[in-house]
Amino acid sequence: MAKIQRTQVGIIGAGPAGLVLSQLLYLQGIESIVLENRSRHYVEERVRAGVLEQGTVDLLTDMGVGERMKREGLVHFGIDLRFKGQGHRIDFHELTGGKGITIYAQAEVVKDLNNARLAAGGQLLFEVDNVSIRAIDTAKPQIRYRKDDADCEVHCDFIAGCDGFHGICRPSIPSGMLTEYERVYPFGWLGILAQVPPSCDELIYAYHDHGFALLSMRTPEISRLYLQCQPDEDISGWSDDKIWHELHTRLAASSGWTLTEGLVLQKGVTGMRSFVVEPMQYGRLYLAGDSAHIVPPTGAKGLNLAVADGQILARGLEEYYSRGNRQMLDHYSEICLRRVWKVQRFSWWMTSMLHRFPDENPFDRRRQLAELDYVTSSQAAARTLAENYVGLPLD
Ligand code: FAD
Ligand code: DHB
Repeated sequence: MAKIQRTQVGIIGAGPAGLVLSQLLYLQGIESIVLENRSRHYVEERVRAGVLEQGTVDLLTDMGVGERMKREGLVHFGIDLRFKGQGHRIDFHELTGGKGITIYAQAEVVKDLNNARLAAGGQLLFEVDNVSIRAIDTAKPQIRYRKDDADCEVHCDFIAGCDGFHGICRPSIPSGMLTEYERVYPFGWLGILAQVPPSCDELIYAYHDHGFALLSMRTPEISRLYLQCQPDEDISGWSDDKIWHELHTRLAASSGWTLTEGLVLQKGVTGMRSFVVEPMQYGRLYLAGDSAHIVPPTGAKGLNLAVADGQILARGLEEYYSRGNRQMLDHYSEICLRRVWKVQRFSWWMTSMLHRFPDENPFDRRRQLAELDYVTSSQAAARTLAENYVGLPLD
């Protein structure tokens, strides 16, 4: 006999979308159970995104999980766009009326949210197996899973599918109900984490003959750097020396700026795709974050979009539980998708402007350089980049 648990909202996945949703529901007096198939250690150490939009920072602060982020996060008011060996600063502060971004690793956000949920007695279960969902088109959806060799069932009012791109929620929606929009890019990013103070106070996005490069950071002692590579690049072909050599080449500037090398702590290759599913809901199942959409990382938007979905879904559920009003929940997908598509556009645009494409011709390269020249010389164009980068309003 399966062990039966009852809750209001069953949440699958303890990434940013699921954890933000669970904590916001808790603050509104709504119960949830979060089911995560990985261990707590694994999700808290996974190296992923690092740039938080102003709205994400404000939300985490308002939710009471911003204390460490405020202490340890690095606030930036601009980025450097580097091409033809010259840097060009985009001044977010001036262009957006004082807004900025905060560098604070996704793993740290996840740690802070896990701590808050567990300190409040939240039901956050790690290392659950065989998660499946059923009866999602009825008023009594259920989640089944196995934990510690026991079969369990969660009976709930709603299910939030926050289980990422490879999760089980999206594929549980009957075929024919969803439309998928996708673009797979013919390149990937080779990323390293290095024990060395960042060589620049702000992020550098570089366009180079050899391909794109990005200098980012995690803390005043740890740098994060990326190189455009093949989508299926074999990382074993990249010694630390070869990576540093290529980073020196692509990030070089005529100003005399230099890149400082350090011990490589971690390296990996990420593929790049744009993906959206419409609608983001079916019956009583609501998809949030990467389970519904993926962006290429160039605009640093994946984590921020996941948090925004969690916030919009929490609002809809609050409307339902406090006022019996289902209107916002019914329009959840519509509300999210308006913003999701604008962020898709921005991520695609940044990606297209900054990478070398295998099928490009000399016209394409001149057009990319003209685009970079325009963005860094026209205040109107720079403002467009800045307002998207610091984050569009929620709705
Ligand atoms: P996730 O963070 O993926 O969380 C989903 C959770 O669900 C995971 O913890 C997963 O273990 C769990 N799960 C999956 N299946 C099941 C199941 N069947 N049952 C239970 N739990 C399940 N974005 C950027 O902006 N910049 C970056 O540099 C960047 N780098 C990235 C690097 C990598 C390798 C990856 C994969 C993504 C990166 N992203 C980056 C994207 C960003 O990290 C994601 O957009 C963000 O994590 C989305 O949050 P989420 O909560 O929707 O999904
Ligand atoms: C980082 C990742 C990004 O995709 C980006 O555009 C900027 C920074 C990072 O991991 O720090």
